[in-house]
Amino acid sequence: MALIPTLTAIFIACSFIGPHNSVMAQLEFGFYSSTCPKAEQIVNSVVQQSVQANSRMAAILLRLHFHDCFVQVPLLFYGCDGSILIEGDKAEKHAFGHQGVQGFDVIETAKAQLESECRGVVSCADIVAMAARDAVALSGGPVYQVQTGRRDGLTSNTSAAVDMPEVTEPIQQLKNKFLQKGLSVKDFVLLNAAHTIGTTACFFMTDRLYNFPGGTSDPTINPVFLPELEATCPKNGDVNVRLAADRESEFKFDDSILRNIRNGFAVIESDAKLYTDAETKNVVDSYMGPLNFLIGPNFGADFAESMVNMGMIDVKTGSQGQIRKVCSAFN
Ligand code: HEM
Repeated sequence: MALIPTLTAIFIACSFIGPHNSVMAQLEFGFYSSTCPKAEQIVNSVVQQSVQANSRMAAILLRLHFHDCFVQVPLLFYGCDGSILIEGDKAEKHAFGHQGVQGFDVIETAKAQLESECRGVVSCADIVAMAARDAVALSGGPVYQVQTGRRDGLTSNTSAAVDMPEVTEPIQQLKNKFLQKGLSVKDFVLLNAAHTIGTTACFFMTDRLYNFPGGTSDPTINPVFLPELEATCPKNGDVNVRLAADRESEFKFDDSILRNIRNGFAVIESDAKLYTDAETKNVVDSYMGPLNFLIGPNFGADFAESMVNMGMIDVKTGSQGQIRKVCSAFN
C-alpha cells in the first residue's frame, strides 16, 4: 500500500521527548531564515540534481545522516556533528562500522554553493540533516521540517565508531543502542524502516545465508525467498553484488518494508529480527492494520518524527564546535 499521504507537509512539533542532550532545545526551525534565507533551497536543489544523476543517491544520503548521528562511544558524545565528513587516515569515516557510507561529495557540493551564498553560516552537520530529509521526500516519503542550528564537531576518529549497530547483533543489544541515544523502541523500528529505500551488499548477507548459528540459514527467511537470496548472493560469490533491502521496492519510500519484515521477506538480518521480539513486533504490526490509512498510526508521519529525534542526538549548538569552511576538513 502506498504511503498516505506521500507528499503532504508534516509539521513536527518540537514538544516531544527527544534524545538526552539538553542543548537540543537550541535547534530551531528556520534557523537560517535571516542569515542565509536560501539555505534550504540550495540544499534541496543539490540533492535533487544528485538523485537525478544517480538513483541510488537518496538512500545513500539518508544512511549518511544515520551514520553521522549514531557514533557510539561510552561517555563521549559525538552525535550529528558532521564528524563523518572529515578526511584523513584516522578519520571516523574509515571506521569498520561505516563501511560503504557515501554521499560526501554531494554534501561538499552543497557546502560550496552555500559558502558563495553566505559564507561561514551553514554547518555541514545541518546540510547532512537537510539532505536526508530531502532524500526521503524525493523518494515519495513524508515531507517534513528539520530543526537546524547544529554546529560542526572538532574531532573525527575511527575509534568513535567502534560500536555502530551491526546486522548480526542480538535484537536486545540493537534496541539498547538506540535507547542509549535517548530514542525509543518505536524510533528504533521506524528508523530501521529507512531500509525501505536502498540496497545492501551481499557482504552483509553471508552470515545470514550460510553461517547462521546452527550452521545453515536464518530460519526466519520465508522458504520462498531463500532460493532467491541464495541466487543473488551465492556462497563464496562476489560480496560486492547489491540487492534491494526492501524487496521489489528499492527506490520507493513506502511501508512495504514492514510488510516484508512481517512476511519473512526482510533482506537485512537486523530488519528480520524486528519481528522476533514482542516489543518491536508490536510496533511493526501497529502500521499494518487495515484501517491505518484512516485512523493511524501513520508510518510516514511517525518516521518523520523519529528522523527529527535522531537528528537531535548530541548536537552541538551556540558557541560549541565551529562552522567549517569545507566539510572534509576542520578550519
Ligand atoms: C540496527 C541498525 C542498523 C543496521 C544494523 C543497519 C545496517 C545496514 C546495512 C548492513 C546496510 C547495507 C550497507 C551496504 O551494503 O553498503 C544498510 C543500508 C542502509 N541503511 Fe541501515 N542499518 C541500521 C539502521 C539504519 C538507520 C537508522 C537508517 C536511517 C535512518 C539506515 C539507513 C540505511 C539506508 C538508507 C541504507 C541503504 C544505503 C544504500 O543504498 O547505499 N539504516 N544498513
